[in-house]
Amino acid sequence: MCALDAVLVAHYYVDGALQDLADATGGCVGDSLEMARFGRDHPACTLVVAGVRFMGETAKILSPDKRVLMPTLEATCSLDLGCPAAEFDAFCNLHRDRTVVVYANTSAAVKARADWVTTSSTGLDIVRHLHAQGEKILWAPDVHLGRYLQAQTGADMLLWNGSCIVHDEFKSVELEILRQEHPGAKVLVHPESPAAVIAQADVVGSTTQLLQAAGRLEAGEFIVATDNGILHKMRQAQPNKIFIEAPTSGNGATCKSCAHCPWMAMNSLDQLAATLAAAQRGDATQDIRVDPDLARRARRPIDRMLAFAAARKTPPPSFATQGSQGMGPA
Ligand code: 13P
Ligand code: SF4
Repeated sequence: MCALDAVLVAHYYVDGALQDLADATGGCVGDSLEMARFGRDHPACTLVVAGVRFMGETAKILSPDKRVLMPTLEATCSLDLGCPAAEFDAFCNLHRDRTVVVYANTSAAVKARADWVTTSSTGLDIVRHLHAQGEKILWAPDVHLGRYLQAQTGADMLLWNGSCIVHDEFKSVELEILRQEHPGAKVLVHPESPAAVIAQADVVGSTTQLLQAAGRLEAGEFIVATDNGILHKMRQAQPNKIFIEAPTSGNGATCKSCAHCPWMAMNSLDQLAATLAAAQRGDATQDIRVDPDLARRARRPIDRMLAFAAARKTPPPSFATQGSQGMGPA
């Protein structure tokens, strides 16, 4: 990596070998917020982003002068796919009285139409802040996260109807059964999950916040409702604790949990090696490119989030009381 002056920035959902390599080479393994901050602040001229496309695009938007490579440019996200920029623009135009807040899991073009970007770790504080200012919100694209934010803050939120194909699959009835089988287990839930799953959580938070909760809470067992890629870090950090995947299938199904993002899974050590070799040959096929004008417009709401998060320091995990969740308009 030295010849390219590159640093590896990986998400918790990618292959454990890539996460270990990022740690061992001075890179970063983090949630979306940490990946964005690390890439922006690191002095390397090349960022290699192991994750999905919006993470590579965010890195490029925040560091237009750096080269940003990804082991695969095909790795997208169902939330990004489910929120096409032209349709989103038309939706926003119908509701000009609302402040537009979009999740980081969106294209640069959708971000460019937004007033604010949030990640799962900043959403609660940002929506609470906007609500306190009396602002009405248009939220996209994750409907489950939107409902969660709405229930927690009481904000007036108009929701886009997108979802994550991984978290959408967690099953509340099977989770209840699993909890009965493991009565001492704490339940850690990512807020992209359905409301009936979130309602059973001891902790709701971003991937980093769930990892921190696994270290902080005294329980010996944890049921984890997020992509199972995170279990690699949880087990490394807490070798004496037991981590159980939350169920993604109903009774009778052969596979009780397949909670792994197919796009995150496209990242591999082999592809990383091929990407670096190609880049060293002068081949630019794995470079992330964002139109400079679009990048400038998309940067504004991302910078707003980063400044907000910096002013509040790293936000603490959000705790959900069982049964406290409400449902908002879809
Ligand atoms: P985090 O920001 O919590 O890591 O979430 C990113 C993501 O894509 C979850 O599915
Ligand atoms: Fe997108 Fe879901 Fe994959 Fe995260 S886990 S990148 S939200 S499809």
